[in-house]
Amino acid sequence: MQQQLANIVSEASSAAPAIKTRPEFEVFKAGLVGSKGSMTAVMKLMGSIPKEEKPAMGKLINEAKQKLEAIFAETLARIEDAELAAKLGEPIDPSLPSPDDFAGMRHPLSQIREEVCGIFHRLGFTIAEGPELETEWFCFDALNTPANHPARDMQDTLFLPADTKATDAPKKADEAYLLRSHTSSVQIRTMLSRKPPIRIVAPGRCFRRDTVDATHSANFHQIEGLWIDKNVTLKDLKSVLDSFVREVFGNAAETRLRPSFFPFTEPSFEMDIRVPNMGALSNRWLEIMGCGLVDPKVLENVGLDANEWSGLAFGMGIERIAMLVHGIDDIRHFYANDLRFLRQFA
Ligand code: PHE
Repeated sequence: MQQQLANIVSEASSAAPAIKTRPEFEVFKAGLVGSKGSMTAVMKLMGSIPKEEKPAMGKLINEAKQKLEAIFAETLARIEDAELAAKLGEPIDPSLPSPDDFAGMRHPLSQIREEVCGIFHRLGFTIAEGPELETEWFCFDALNTPANHPARDMQDTLFLPADTKATDAPKKADEAYLLRSHTSSVQIRTMLSRKPPIRIVAPGRCFRRDTVDATHSANFHQIEGLWIDKNVTLKDLKSVLDSFVREVFGNAAETRLRPSFFPFTEPSFEMDIRVPNMGALSNRWLEIMGCGLVDPKVLENVGLDANEWSGLAFGMGIERIAMLVHGIDDIRHFYANDLRFLRQFA
């Protein structure tokens, strides 16, 4: 009987590799453990063997059954793999790239930044940059923003601890470091580092102590513009910004300059646009940026003679432009890293 069991197992294991399909497997399995199977026949003999031999035989039978189960499992797994491979048309190669072939894309804010900078580039502006960590002087004083201005309040701006050390923006001993609340500090850095005429746009990250909601984010992005030359006038401001607006929002877009106030421009305006075909926002005046002529005080602060030089400046939020262009109703979508949102701009 022991010999019979050994034969059954070794025959099964040498027959198994030839089994290629499920019906073949079923026949094979039935021939061993089915009602007329060879293993079943051996098990039936248990009834007729002497009592004292039963435990030893039981053990042998169990071992043989376990070996058969392992052969069945292995054979079935091989058949299933082959079935799957046949469905796919070829064997599975786990080293292949994911069948999801999405190759990545620029973030919608980067797309708008590049589009806007590209438009100004064609109008003769080059790109300038400045640090996100600024000193009070670059962010406020040099921009003619007095000590009692609300932007200088702890409630509006993110100041850094007094012992902060930063090498890219050296400060005076009694000055504070802050995360820049606007990109206008790059106006000052640029005017100090090059001679006019100057025509730059400065894209970058800005920070304010805003409570996050659908239209506010403590971290957002702006594009600053500065043009310093002789006899820069309001006509230049209007024509540069009008060309920009028409390129982004189409030729049917109207613009208006609405009087406003910024400490570093005089006169100052908000530019509004009105576009006929912009979904729910159609035909409504929408604010898109602050702008104006550079205040003579600012020119003096950077050592330029205000009688000789003049300028225009503007600053817009990249998020705001992107929300208008794409009809996005919540600024938080930009930062959630949800591919279902982002892929719409691929
Ligand atoms: N810095 C201003 C702001 O953050 C925008 C601005 C830039 C206004 C340049 C005028 C000129 O709101």
